[in-house]
Amino acid sequence: MSTHVLGALADIAPGAVKKFAVGGRAIAVVRIGDDIYALGDTCSHADISLSEGEVLPATKELECWKHGSAFSLVTGVPSTLPAIKPVPVYDVSVVDNNIVLVIEESTGSTEGAAS
Ligand code: FES
Repeated sequence: MSTHVLGALADIAPGAVKKFAVGGRAIAVVRIGDDIYALGDTCSHADISLSEGEVLPATKELECWKHGSAFSLVTGVPSTLPAIKPVPVYDVSVVDNNIVLVIEESTGSTEGAAS
């Protein structure tokens, strides 16, 4: 598990999305009101950056600009075709007005990696 401070909440306007590179991953961080969400930035349909798409606050989704699949900010699952596979969802929160992202490493032992 690794923890990353991505910057101040104020760096992302409500209703906006910003792309971050964290530990070799591209992550789209979305703000709706004072709530924050983090998804894998690459669309599951093709190699397109979701952070270049549109935030849909009413349904809590991020829409891919290329073909219009809308991914849930909560589950990463697309609600519309053509994408059918989910994108990863990351644990993100606001601590002392900073955006804090936690990445759970999914493979084997990470002994000594949390230094
Ligand atoms: S590339 Fe995202 S929906 Fe096709």
